[in-house]
Amino acid sequence: MGRDTLEVSHLHTSFFTERGEVKAVQDVSLTVGKGQVVGIVGESGCGKSMVARSIMGLVRKPGRVVSGSITLGGRELTSLGEKELCKIRGRDISMVFQEPMTSLNPTMRVGRQVQEVIAIHENLPKDEARRRTLKMLSDVGIPEVEARYSAYPHELSGGLRQRVMIAMAMVMKPRLLIADEPTTALDATVETQIIALLRQLADAGTSVLIISHNLGVIAQLADYVYVMYAGRVVERGSVFELFDNPVHPYTHGLLGAVSSLRGQSRVLQTIPGVVPNLASLPKGCSFAPRCNKCMATCTATQPELIRVCAEHEASCHLLEGGDAP
Ligand SMILES: Nc1ncnc2c1ncn2[C@@H]1O[C@H](COP(=O)(O)OP(=O)(O)OP(=O)(O)O)[C@@H](O)[C@H]1O
Ligand SMILES: [Mg+2]
Repeated sequence: MGRDTLEVSHLHTSFFTERGEVKAVQDVSLTVGKGQVVGIVGESGCGKSMVARSIMGLVRKPGRVVSGSITLGGRELTSLGEKELCKIRGRDISMVFQEPMTSLNPTMRVGRQVQEVIAIHENLPKDEARRRTLKMLSDVGIPEVEARYSAYPHELSGGLRQRVMIAMAMVMKPRLLIADEPTTALDATVETQIIALLRQLADAGTSVLIISHNLGVIAQLADYVYVMYAGRVVERGSVFELFDNPVHPYTHGLLGAVSSLRGQSRVLQTIPGVVPNLASLPKGCSFAPRCNKCMATCTATQPELIRVCAEHEASCHLLEGGDAP
């Protein structure tokens, strides 16, 4: 395993609420190798952000990582205390959060916000930190950086704010960048620019875990894709395998929803039915109630991930007969 490899194995993360245990993440395993871009895709509420927060050690009460292992370069992260995690966050692993407006401090100039990240991790002279900040802002494609350094978040467009957040995440040159819905709030042109920027970062050696419910973003960016449903990985494979030869009925549904839009928009449309309540999951396959290929066994037992071919696995009882569904 490489020094920079992120390895998540058999991760379970739950919220312990009055309604009972909400199983937000169940038995999720994934790997992100150096310079690789790995995507997680799935409908709202299926556990994508909770996987990211688990990796960052940022699951808030009443939630917690129940079991499983998360290692970066072989170092176990789940057993670290808050102090050690603070050192790792921003320096080794950074995250661009889903909520663009709440992630920047509205009362602080954006340049200072980037500089603060440096100050947390390194004792640099101020002018040196400022130089590095300006370089970083420029590297993420922000024009007229001297002027923008002194701007407040509300004075910048959504696209520029997102670039500032990526600059904050990248300024310590982390080994892994987690980008949670990095383009959701942006228009198509800016989205394309942000995708190109993330690709550049990966080409320069940063590992990227990108989370999106937008299959178009995933298709453009990711080398490898994990499809999540109701807290579990239901299919995983190289981006070519997954888009050319999807086998899970849920993945079919996601892809069908996209093509039915004839390229007007690549945002997911709904598959009939709703994601089940994670506090009282049905017996068997969680997708069974919405699946048009549902069989008796599907409502009885949880399917395991089964190998489709090298670099491709899916958890569906239809695969057990040896035929692809
Ligand atoms: N504070 C909380 N208390 C109880 N359950 C929670 C809490 N936060 C999240 N969950 C549960 O975790 C599940 C997964 O949430 P998560 O934010 O990971 O979804 P997501 O896939 O990122 O969705 P989206 O695409 O909308 O961002 C939710 O469906 C919800 O049931
Ligand atoms: Mg989310």
